[in-house]
Amino acid sequence: MRILDLIHAKRNDEEHTAAEIEWIVNAYTKGEIPDYQMSAWLMAVYFRGMSEAETAAMTMAMVKSGEILDLSGIPGIKADKHSTGGVADTTTLILAPLVAATGVPVAKMSGRGLGFTGGTIDKLEAIPGFNVTLDRATFIGNVAKHGLAIMAQSLNLTPADGQIYSLRDVTGTVESIPLIASSIMSKKIAAGADKIVLDVKVGAGAFMKRYEDALSLARLMVEIGRIVNRETVAVLTNMEQPLGMAVGNSLEVEEAIDILSGQGCPELRDVCLALGAHMLRLAGRVRELEEGREMLQTVLASGAALAKFAEFIQAQNGNPEIITRRELLPRAKLSAVITSQEAGFVTAIDPARIGYAAVLLGAGRLYKNQPLDLSAGIVLTRRVGDAARPGDPLAKLFFNDASQLEEARRFVASAFSIDDRRPPKKPLILGVVEHESK
Ligand code: URA
Ligand code: CA
Repeated sequence: MRILDLIHAKRNDEEHTAAEIEWIVNAYTKGEIPDYQMSAWLMAVYFRGMSEAETAAMTMAMVKSGEILDLSGIPGIKADKHSTGGVADTTTLILAPLVAATGVPVAKMSGRGLGFTGGTIDKLEAIPGFNVTLDRATFIGNVAKHGLAIMAQSLNLTPADGQIYSLRDVTGTVESIPLIASSIMSKKIAAGADKIVLDVKVGAGAFMKRYEDALSLARLMVEIGRIVNRETVAVLTNMEQPLGMAVGNSLEVEEAIDILSGQGCPELRDVCLALGAHMLRLAGRVRELEEGREMLQTVLASGAALAKFAEFIQAQNGNPEIITRRELLPRAKLSAVITSQEAGFVTAIDPARIGYAAVLLGAGRLYKNQPLDLSAGIVLTRRVGDAARPGDPLAKLFFNDASQLEEARRFVASAFSIDDRRPPKKPLILGVVEHESK
């Protein structure tokens, strides 16, 4: 095979065979295709698209480029959850103990934050002593013993995706639905999931700004799951405002404790219950979603989910006392309040601006390996639909380094839209995509 012929074919909107896709992925990963030709092929894919069969072949070629984590030693069906990335999205910290408390094993690999979206691993590191770098045997042993473990992605999973993603990032080819779908699905499959629940975010704070695009992405990922025999459900959720109230690592741990204690932001809780119910059903724990929701509500109300969170923290060397003594978590020395200049109702809160302001305060990274201030971040005090008068607090900023405070303040203030009329209430769950043959 020759890459030039395949570039021509894709440019002319022809469909590749699975063998051709596999060859491209392997040859690029081995350094046999130079970046300029791979870039040309990716740009042809960006404009011409890929069929479901091509996308499934690309997914599996990337899976096979590295290790596949074998979770078969852990009894039960392993359901994993993936979010396409949001702001104030603390769902993993809440969902993992919530689902594990019902007896469904959760074995999760997570990443660090980059840009304005946070990462679960950074959040867990806000817990004093918490160890995110488990070896394989400890990871699997902890899931077997406690029903739950979360570790940083450190194995050699999907190296082809890593290389291709880096090239896409600098060649304007990230925003391609088949390339995003294969990238996400390859990582989930390599991490050993039997069943996959996807939280596909839609709106200003998400990759997919338009519902139609998010729906296409969701359908394609569910179809790839069917083709490669990993049952997948996608839940489309609204990202018109930050999902919870807190943005920032230590602040989000506190918010997770609130939700697991039966308090906290209703939107964040509802998304967790919806995603969790799908995980329970895919794992065979319940037959109906409603039954799953009730089971999750029971373990929230009984305190079992919070107790599972404490057990999990202890099992990974963290200090579980943070649950009752929040002052043990990293705390910022300084704070500032952003107040409303106008009277009216909050009609929108741009998650990207809030996320970017949190980065300026030290809560996130603009480049890989940038050190974080785990205590820094933002807590919203108004949500979409709330009334505000001049002088009312909209958000509180927490930081230790005030060098970029003014810019952060401007971003937060401009994230809020305030209007005379109360906006109509929008649903949080915009749609669900499942396999059709059921
Ligand atoms: N997230 C991923 O993991 N891959 C993409 O291509 C886009 C978002
Ligand atoms: Ca096409």
